[in-house]
Amino acid sequence: MMRRIFSGHNTCCRKIVMPDSSTEFHTKRSFLKYLMVFVSGFIGVFSSWGIARFVFSGTGQKLDRTISKELFESINRERPYFIPQVGAWVVKRQTLSESEALDDRCTHLGCRYKWNQDKDLFECPCHGSEFDIQGQVFRGPATRHLPRLYLTEAPSQMLRISEHRPRK
Ligand code: FES
Repeated sequence: MMRRIFSGHNTCCRKIVMPDSSTEFHTKRSFLKYLMVFVSGFIGVFSSWGIARFVFSGTGQKLDRTISKELFESINRERPYFIPQVGAWVVKRQTLSESEALDDRCTHLGCRYKWNQDKDLFECPCHGSEFDIQGQVFRGPATRHLPRLYLTEAPSQMLRISEHRPRK
């Protein structure tokens, strides 16, 4: 839209092109609309990714995990030891049945947590959840303890790490 601005003298006027306020308003509004769609989409994709990771982390390829007895024997007692190929932290105790393992995914949104020796806690780098050595929640936002895994003897000098408690 074009407006005429008078300079004070009736005989002289200049044409000045002013931005149309309604167009500007629509542009800002459109920008905000696109921004909201973008932010909502980003949140949606991020949430879906986290949920999918959480849902599928305890299933599928991780169901049958095995490690060699030799590897287990080399682990120091009473100190969490990460075994990346099976996605688990193992805490070796006096006996095999007393030993435990924890799935390596945080129960909040599925990030991989780490052991902090100074704090004596597992820490998740994503949102700060902390768990004790047994996998119990020490600090949120996670509300569920880490999935406990069980170690049992398997053929060929191997140990199975399973989600199911062994039958006695
Ligand atoms: S994924 Fe671990 S605290 Fe959020």
